[in-house]
This record gives sequence, structure tokens and C-alpha cells, in this order.
Amino acid sequence: MSKFYVTTPIYYVNDRPHIGHAYTTVLADVLARSHRSLSDATFFLTGTDEHGQKVQQAAEKRGVSPLAHCDETVVRFQELWTRLGITNDHFIRTTQANHKRIVAKIMQDLYDRDEIYKADYTGWYCVGCERFFTEKDLVDGKCPDCGRDVNAITESNYFFRMSKYQDWLIDYIQTHPDFILPAFRANETLGFLKKPLGDLCISRPKSRLSWGIELPFDPDYVCYVWFDALINYISGVGYGTDEEKFNSWWPASCHLIGKDILTTHSVYWPTMLKAIGLPMPKTIFAHGWWLTGNSKMSKSLGNVVNPMDMIDRAGVDAFRYFLLAEMSPGNDANFSEDAFISRYNSDLANDLGNLLSRVSKLTIRATGGEIPAPNELNADDAELANAVTQAISAMESSLESYKLDQGINAAMNAIRAGNRYLEKCAPWTLAKNGDTARLHTVLHNAAEALCKVAVLLAPVMPQKMTELLCVLGADKAGISGIADLAGLKSVAGFIMKEASPLFPRIIVETDPGAAAPAPKAEKKAKTEKSAPEKTQAPENVLISIDDFFKTQLKTAKVLSAEKVDGADKLLKLSIEVGPEVRQLVAGVAQFYSPEQITGKTIVIVANLKPAKIRGIESQGMLLAAKNGNDLKLVTIDGDMPSGISIG
Ligand code: MSP
Repeated sequence: MSKFYVTTPIYYVNDRPHIGHAYTTVLADVLARSHRSLSDATFFLTGTDEHGQKVQQAAEKRGVSPLAHCDETVVRFQELWTRLGITNDHFIRTTQANHKRIVAKIMQDLYDRDEIYKADYTGWYCVGCERFFTEKDLVDGKCPDCGRDVNAITESNYFFRMSKYQDWLIDYIQTHPDFILPAFRANETLGFLKKPLGDLCISRPKSRLSWGIELPFDPDYVCYVWFDALINYISGVGYGTDEEKFNSWWPASCHLIGKDILTTHSVYWPTMLKAIGLPMPKTIFAHGWWLTGNSKMSKSLGNVVNPMDMIDRAGVDAFRYFLLAEMSPGNDANFSEDAFISRYNSDLANDLGNLLSRVSKLTIRATGGEIPAPNELNADDAELANAVTQAISAMESSLESYKLDQGINAAMNAIRAGNRYLEKCAPWTLAKNGDTARLHTVLHNAAEALCKVAVLLAPVMPQKMTELLCVLGADKAGISGIADLAGLKSVAGFIMKEASPLFPRIIVETDPGAAAPAPKAEKKAKTEKSAPEKTQAPENVLISIDDFFKTQLKTAKVLSAEKVDGADKLLKLSIEVGPEVRQLVAGVAQFYSPEQITGKTIVIVANLKPAKIRGIESQGMLLAAKNGNDLKLVTIDGDMPSGISIG
């Protein structure tokens, strides 16, 4: 059995948790859940960083003690993690007695061994970052990290002999390619280490800052907040209190961090561990930032995304999915509500939701619910099985590389392959023609693909994938984690239940009467759209084939039609698109009566965001040619089932 110990940074307790904090914690959670599901012994640590000047100042401002302030603010993080389904094994607070004792013990030990010494020091201090900088570190006389003003301070302080480990650290990074990931962050650290490394000031005089852990060898000083905070990674798993526990978890498998705290983790922490005499963590993985409108989120810019709002709007699992699918760790990602809605609707509501509803409806119609055994297999079946196998191996390797977006993407590709498979094999036609042998094979294979992908995505969307596995009847067979996939011989015999929509579409609603979508700030929930105005591409601009294929054109059969009250031009159609029945509102009433249009096989844009027209939801758009006062529907030449892709 392997072991996996993952950590997040401990968050400043003063801050309000935002999407950046949520991202790291969800990423750690998905890694922890995945390793647990692979039966690895797993420990997941997160917590809060509670000492330092900012907390002291905030508490003073509110007229409460720093600890009382922390006790009140820590709840914001704890509540959010509960809401997000975070499965941390321990929540560490740096104000806990055990942590403070271990920090003091380590400092005393380093002091006794002359790893810590006292000296006079003049430095430039940034209150915001709680860090000292040398003159040459400054950028235009300001803090190199946050750009704010710095103050010159001369005082006696204690120093950790970090400089003596510089050569060792360079060599360690160069000989351990997995130590700092992505690799360009290792290069960044090596670049930093080209300059002589100074010793690290690890104390603050109490006259200036009293909210910290007192130095055991000098009661006039407290410990520098970063020196205190980094130690959480070992105090949180029993260092100095429970050696057996500590030895079973340390060294950590992965410290997940944001790119702004790379140096503290890739230079301070390894040299501290070396001085303490402990082995290095296997990997320090630095992810990028979430930006809004291409700038870093900050309170002053007012562009902070509150995770609770997103969860309220779309649910926990959809939010977790979006965070991980949208960011390629290592790079920055931009958050926008449009990107969120578009990914939600296309990946979850459309691709995943449709596959589940089709498989469940068709199986219940064909067998009453029992997933049938497959018969002879052909090339289409092999293609689907191959997409699923690729998804499994991509997910496994993305767990190794921490690039979970790649595993998720492969899983969604398998879902799309499942939808294409159904369109190609057309089980609805097989049923109509009485080809039961092939029908059973197709239903079985589609259900099996769905089951396997649901297991792969369960760490990302635990609640929804559990629901999905219940619909498939897989829960009864004890299928819940990746480790169970190897033992899954067949889904035949599972009893399928009727599926209610796992991810109801989010309807984008804009101001009534607006020709173009209303500006973002005015966009509001649950308003309605007038008949959509179409923007034509300029005549002579060429598009690529990929652009064309972004539009999903499909055949659809008009089941019934009726006039829309008070709208001369509109017909409300009920259309069949494969096994799905949709409602569509079209401006064709002056050219076709309900009777004339009923029964026709038309062509629709199937992946258009739903919109409300005169209060009625339209799930797609039909194609027609309009010439002045004449309009003709685009129809299919000959007999063709509905739901067939056109391209
Ligand atoms: N307390 C220190 C960490 C000590 S770890 C021993 C700290 N706290 S923090 O609350 O300011 O930041 C915690 C993490 O949030 C960092 O990894 C930081 O990179 C991350 N993020 C803060 N804003 C972010 C985004 N906009 N996007 C992604 N992550 C970002 O630093």
C-alpha cells in the first residue's frame, strides 16, 4: 500500500475565503479522495495561519483580543470547507497549544546548535506581506511582491543560518526533478538562488509585534510568522508528539501552493528542514492564480469571487468541477460567470446529463431497467471502450502530474464518445426494428462507459457521481472508487432507475427587449429574452472547420406545434431529437401553420444556450432560408431518424 500526504497552504485567518483558496483546497481534496479510492493510506492537512501583524492590527481595530478575533474568523474557512465537501483529516490552527510547543522546541534546538544567532539588522519591511527585504530586493523602492510601500527598520534580531544551505539546495533541486513542479518553477527558484542567499530573520521584537510564538530563549521576541507557519506541515502530523504517526506520514507527498508563495516554500522551508534534520517533501507544486478580468483578485479592485455565491447558484459539485476543469495547474485561469455557465451547460447539462438520461430512458424502455448482457462486438463498440480506457489512464497519470484538468478532459471526451456512439448506433431505431441483440449490446456498452467515467469523476463531484451510480444500479454492486474498476467485469444485471436531471441547464437571461446581451453588470437572474437577434458573420470572412464544428446541427422531428398567444410570428414546437424531447420557439408562424410543420424532419442547432422568448424556453434554433417575404425550412431529403448529427 502506498501513502499519500497532501497539504494546502494555511490561509491567513483574517482574509475572507475566495475562489483562489477554494481552488487549492478542492484540488487537494480531489487528490486525497482519489488516493483513498486507490486504497492508498492518505492524510490531508489544511488550516489557518493565525499569528502576525495583520491579525494583531485587525483585532486592535475591533477592540478584541487577537485570539478572539481568530476564533471568530476561522469559522469562515471551516464553514466553506464543510460546504464544499472537503475531507481534510486535520485542521491545524497555528494558535493551537501543540503547534506552538513544537515551534518553540524546534527554535530552541536550532539555537542550541548555533543554527540561529542574534545580530543587528537593517531591512525594509512590508507590513502587508509581513516580510523583510534587502535594498536590492525592492522594485522601485516598493515591496517586490505586492508593490506597496516598505518601511526601513533597524533592530536586533535572531537569524537562521539559511545561507549555509545555498549550495546544498541548488544541488538538491537539480538532482530531484519532481521536487518543485511545474519544472519552470524549479528554474525560477534556481534563478533566485543565483544571487547570494542571506540568513533569514526569524524574530520580531515584542515592542513592535507581540502576537506570535515567544522565542524560548528570549522572551522579548516572538517568532517570524512564516517560520512559525511552515512548521505546521510537520506539527500537524505528530512531529515531536507522536513519532509513529509522524514517521508514517512524513515526508509529505505534495505541498500544494500558489505561485506567490514559491520562495518561502522552495527556499525557506527546505533549508529549515535540512537544519532540523528531516527529509524533504517529495513535491512542492505551485499553481497559478485565478484572475478576474485578467487581473488578480483583490479586495481593493472589488473583483473577488465569493465561492458561496457560486455554490448557491449552481451547486457544490458543479463548482468543484469548474474549478478543476477550467484551470490547467501551473498557469493562470480567468474566472468569468459566462465561462462558468458555458462549461456547466455544455459539459454537465448537455454531454453528461444527456448521456445519462438517454441511457436510462432507453434501457427502461427496452428491458424495464435491467442492464442487458452484451452480444457480439464491432468496431463502434471498440472505439467507445478505447475512449474509456484512455480516460482511465489519463486520470491516473494526471494524479501523478497534478494536472487534473487533463484527466477530467479525457473523462469528458469519453462521455462525448458515448453520445456519438448512441447517435451512430441509434438504439431507438434498433428498438423500432426489433434488433434486440444489437440493442442490448449498445445499451450495455453505453451504460458501462457511463459507470466507469462516473467512478473517475467521483472525487471531483462526489455527490452527483454517487447519484449517477445509483441511477445505474452500480452502488449495489459496491462500485465507488477507481480501485473497484479493475474488479468490474460487467454492468449487466445492474438495475437502472429513472434519471432526474443531474445538472439542470442554467438559463442565461438578459434584459427583455435587448437586441444584444445586456452588459454584464445588468445581467440578472431569471429575466427573459426577446426573439434572438442574429449576428451574421461577414460574407467574406473564412472560418476554420473547427469553428464550424462548434455548432452541433442535428435532425429533429416536429411532434406538435401551436401558436404563441399574442405573438403573430411565433410557433411553439415540441420536437424529438433522438430519445430527447425538446421545446423550441421559432419565428415561422407567418409561413407555416402548426399542421403544416408537424411531422417534418427539420434541422436544428442543438447546442445553443437555451433562451426565453416571450416567457417560453427555447432549447435550440431551427434552420430556415429567408428571402424577403418568403421563408422555407431546411429539411432532410428522404427518410432519416431524428437526433442525427449533420456535418
Ligand atoms: N499564510 C500564507 C501561507 C502559509 S503556508 C505555510 C498565505 N496565506 S494566503 O491566505 O494569503 O494565501 C494562501 C494561498 O492562496 C496561497 O497559495 C496563494 O497563492 C493562494 N491564492 C491567493 N489568491 C489567489 C488567487 N487569486 N488565485 C489562486 N490562488 C491564490 O500566503
